[in-house]
Amino acid sequence: MAGTLGLGIVGAGRVAANHARAAQRLDDVALRAIAEVDGTRRAAFAEEYGCAGEASLDALLRRDDVDLVVLALPHRLHAEAAIQALQAGKHVLVEKPMAMSVEECDRMIAAAKAANRLLAVGLTHHFHPVPAAARVLIRSGQLGRLVWATETQYSQRRLGSNPSWLFDRAEGGGQLLANGVHFTDRMMMLAGSRIVAVKALVGSFFNAYPSDDGTLAYFQFENGAAGTLALTGHYSGAPTSLAQAVCTKGMLRYGRELEATDPDQPDVEGYRAVPVPPANGFARQLQNVAAAIRGEGALEVPGEWGRDVMRALFACEESSRRGREVVLE
Ligand SMILES: NC(=O)c1ccc[n+]([C@@H]2O[C@H](COP(=O)([O-])OP(=O)(O)OC[C@H]3O[C@@H](n4cnc5c(N)ncnc54)[C@H](O)[C@@H]3O)[C@@H](O)[C@H]2O)c1
Repeated sequence: MAGTLGLGIVGAGRVAANHARAAQRLDDVALRAIAEVDGTRRAAFAEEYGCAGEASLDALLRRDDVDLVVLALPHRLHAEAAIQALQAGKHVLVEKPMAMSVEECDRMIAAAKAANRLLAVGLTHHFHPVPAAARVLIRSGQLGRLVWATETQYSQRRLGSNPSWLFDRAEGGGQLLANGVHFTDRMMMLAGSRIVAVKALVGSFFNAYPSDDGTLAYFQFENGAAGTLALTGHYSGAPTSLAQAVCTKGMLRYGRELEATDPDQPDVEGYRAVPVPPANGFARQLQNVAAAIRGEGALEVPGEWGRDVMRALFACEESSRRGREVVLE
């Protein structure tokens, strides 16, 4: 790798532009090529972002000017594409959710080790300013120890509002894998701990598409903290996005803004705003991956972390099927 890190993106769908714009914000990363099977989309993307257009992953992987590959593909393609890219000697940033099974995640991690390349997972909330600031506040200890975290995420998600594969569980779609992955990850991030037991209800309650559209889950973390996830992609309903953390000396909550109680004034009721400077989460994510490739820092979201998040999501599905708590070894 010369001074500039060469980036290739695979899949020119909804999220790809965020990665291309992230590269534009960084001096030491340059977008070299997009690989996209749809010719019209490929040509438009290549023109807009001034990069080459390749018709396949294979063609992109043959390029010597690409060091890092971002996989922005339908979920069922993540594992094989990541393994192929790693075996071709590329570093990989695979979009969330990491893969369709824990076994696929393990194979991806093994492929990265065998190729001595980095495997990062696009759990972007680690880099979005508000969730990242919430974690910093919890880690500072000012609010004491995290006792539990809750995520209430209600959105309208009718057929047609997203690509059709996102409504099909066989394609890796559904609310839990597509969106629940972010909010489970956020609670793991606040707890700083893995999930070791899960009890959940997962199903299709509000729409007639072939995947889940609602989850209520209770998570037990290894360090003793707990978490709940209430998630819908409702046919109607009122959008709500609220994360809360209850700690031994105070509380915080965030949607678009971060607020916390004042631990120095326990008799004052209510939250106060915590100022958070704006930042671009996708650019910060790419910056972290690029720095790790250069040996200038640790990966914030390595494959092992992505695997632990997926393990909890699959345990939610299993718990719901069996009507029992699932304990993870
Ligand atoms: N991190 C985030 O905030 C965020 C936001 C949105 C989507 N995502 C994730 O990004 C990924 C892509 O989602 P999307 O909404 O952009 O999907 P999309 O359906 O809009 O785009 C996927 C693209 O991949 C192309 N494609 C399919 N098979 C291909 C192949 N074999 N080779 C090359 N191109 C191929 C499709 O033609 C399509 O253009 C998913 O994992 C999704 O969950 C992440």
